[in-house]
Amino acid sequence: MKRDGSVRRRDVLRGASLVTAASVTQLGCGSSDEPGTTPPPREVFLHGIASGDPLADAVILWTRVTSPDGAPVDVVWTVARDRELADVVASGSSSTDADRDHTVKVDVTGLEAGATYYYAFDALEERSPIGRTRCAPSGATSRLRFVVCSCSSYAHGHFNAYQRIAERLDLDVVLHLGDYIYEYGDDEYSDPELEEPRLYDPPHEIITLEDYRRRYAHYRADSDLQAVHQQHPFICIWDDHESANDSFPDGAENHASSEGAWADRKADAIRAYFEWMPIRDNDDKKVWRTFRYGDLVDLIMLDTRLWGRQQQSELGEDPPLDPERQILGDDQEAWLFDQLETSSATWRLLGQQVMMGQLGLVTNPDQWDGYPAARERLFDVLTGSSIDNVVVLTGDIHSSWGMDLTYDPFDATAYDPNDGTGSVAVEFVTPAITSPGFPEALGPVAEGLKADNPHMKLVDLVQRGYVVLDITAERVEAAWYHVDTIKTPSGGESLFGVVASLAGSNHLVEQSEASAAPTDVPPPAPG
Ligand SMILES: [Fe+2]
Repeated sequence: MKRDGSVRRRDVLRGASLVTAASVTQLGCGSSDEPGTTPPPREVFLHGIASGDPLADAVILWTRVTSPDGAPVDVVWTVARDRELADVVASGSSSTDADRDHTVKVDVTGLEAGATYYYAFDALEERSPIGRTRCAPSGATSRLRFVVCSCSSYAHGHFNAYQRIAERLDLDVVLHLGDYIYEYGDDEYSDPELEEPRLYDPPHEIITLEDYRRRYAHYRADSDLQAVHQQHPFICIWDDHESANDSFPDGAENHASSEGAWADRKADAIRAYFEWMPIRDNDDKKVWRTFRYGDLVDLIMLDTRLWGRQQQSELGEDPPLDPERQILGDDQEAWLFDQLETSSATWRLLGQQVMMGQLGLVTNPDQWDGYPAARERLFDVLTGSSIDNVVVLTGDIHSSWGMDLTYDPFDATAYDPNDGTGSVAVEFVTPAITSPGFPEALGPVAEGLKADNPHMKLVDLVQRGYVVLDITAERVEAAWYHVDTIKTPSGGESLFGVVASLAGSNHLVEQSEASAAPTDVPPPAPG
């Protein structure tokens, strides 16, 4: 990848110092006893708050403090049942320092299954924004609402979709399938037609630990991203751009030897991810893990990027693909099959990065199409062990797809697209928050793709947005919402399409409308 060698801004700028007075005011931060007075600008909690990895009795709380002199900081955290933080159920203290970039992560335990909580941090005589989070339910669970999203290239436009997700107060959790940040420098991957360019900090491609930390800090100064973290817990996995484009364990398309050792860059990228994301720490720095949402959903999150993937082949590579090529690695694959075979929930959701279904016409070697033996082994487990009700959730490709998963969608003797015979599972692919899909001129190609790919029931190649999953014992419904623009801040969105997988059917059917969101929802966190 071509480097941007120019230094257009002082590299010494820290992410924290990029938060302008205007953007701090937008955050609705600070507090004042005097109605009508302007609250003082926030100085300590410049990067908001977040929560994640909810269990039935625990949740991760996250924040970062800006230490005026870089010294260690003591932080007090409070969890309550109400948004005034009066009915406190847990509290404690933690300290942080420069070794972890002054980030704070607390695993609060002893909580109540399915309950909504509000929380805040106090440090250096300042209170953070108040956040809202929710534990996973346990036991009998009748309905769940998840959002699926991915791919937020800051330089391509405004995070309007994150703001829309923040406003949906009925969600149990937001699943982020990666490309939360992008590694590029200014002018490497951006929209040149934006009226006001959205420039990065640091302005160059991120390579070092300091670079990755600054890029997370820059993202977390965005008010839309802060808003969605404030209102919902997240369950996250990384894709490639949290390290570098088309990464795999031993390298990346966007990594050159002149940038140093890949092992060092990967380790720094992973370290910054675990510092800045509300993910539960573990010694192996694994992101593959399972969440149980009562008896309704087992949510199995995968790492098809940095754990066991063998290097992508080139388009048209000769000799052709090694049939044994792995995308998960032997240990993660064995773990996945065990998770599937031992799951007793009604539904098994697989959150992962790259498209699993076949894409006719062209083979993208970065997707499961480039790892056909691995895909076949997974399908063999589903059919061999009679595992129904599997839903694959995917990001990465910056476009909207809903499809049946089958060994060979183009073999009419093995798959009937009309009644779903031969389909073993279904896949929902979320559009990007902002990252560009296919060129707008190719929009009409979607209909042709559906005609040529009988397993595809919903396709859009251009729009940005997210997917709402509405889950009951009877079906998993997926509704694609597209925002009207990302060129300016805007509140517009529209429903693009709805499909569902009915329990026991393992294939998709189109729906005429999306189920109504429940109205009996806990109030938003203030601010
Ligand atoms: Fe992406």
